[in-house]
Amino acid sequence: MDHYAVIGHPVEHSQSPLIHQAFAKQTGQALEYSRVLAPLDGFAATVAQLRAQGYQGANVTVPFKFEAYALADRLSARALNAGAVNTLSFLPDGVVGDNTDGIGLVQDILHNLQFVLPGKRVLLLGAGGAAEGVLYPLLEQGPAVLCIANRTHDKAIAMATRAQKQHGELRIEARSFAELAGQTFDLVINATSSGLSNEKMTLPAGLFAESALAYDMMYGRETPFMAYARQDKVANIADGLGMLVEQAAEAFYSWRKVRPLTLPVIKQLRT
Ligand code: ATR
Repeated sequence: MDHYAVIGHPVEHSQSPLIHQAFAKQTGQALEYSRVLAPLDGFAATVAQLRAQGYQGANVTVPFKFEAYALADRLSARALNAGAVNTLSFLPDGVVGDNTDGIGLVQDILHNLQFVLPGKRVLLLGAGGAAEGVLYPLLEQGPAVLCIANRTHDKAIAMATRAQKQHGELRIEARSFAELAGQTFDLVINATSSGLSNEKMTLPAGLFAESALAYDMMYGRETPFMAYARQDKVANIADGLGMLVEQAAEAFYSWRKVRPLTLPVIKQLRT
């Protein structure tokens, strides 16, 4: 039996064991997947312990994604782009760090929500770790424009400037929330942590183009961003549950080389 875990602090809320056990059952893989609470100053020691116990890999959640990046002996291209790691593979010759958050978001948007990304006007709200994690996979889809807006404008500018260097062919903009007034977008993604604290964002009204998709990367309850979209009469509003399952599927694939079906698991979690 192979062993995997999700490492976090806190971690008891994590749905990852449910998701990976559902994938394992569906694909006939024999594995165990558990939650591991690491002390805030004990991430590296926890990883060392799991490796010593023969674990094959782990997912990494808040607040250890940057530490996981620093700890990995080798990094995938998408981990390098994100500057953070959510998936570790424990190999005989070292620890490989990967990041499946961004591809998880893109898969959910493209396949589950059937939203075509290329050529669209995309607004990414936030310039923290969560936004960084999804920026490059979004850019790889070739949006007509990708606008990064953040409460602290300077952070949006820094992020857009860095991304523009790598994607000179694309239009990447940085805005303060106030500067969004009068603009419309086909897809608005909330990658801020405002939903966690249930805080409102001071966004101007009328940001959504016709048939726009409003996507909150949080899941579990209606966030102020989702309520804001509802108020603006947006018909397509999604939470981050699909992204959660898709990022897990990508991690499962990289560990087991088998791709699980995600829709049944998303449905199972929703009920
Ligand atoms: P995470 O890893 O979740 O991205 P983070 O790196 O601390 O966490 O980033 C939090 C993001 O949410 C930032 O973009 C933050 O904006 P600031 O850079 O201005 O702090 C954003 N954020 C948090 N609460 C917010 C709120 N109430 N309104 C708008 N933005 C908010």
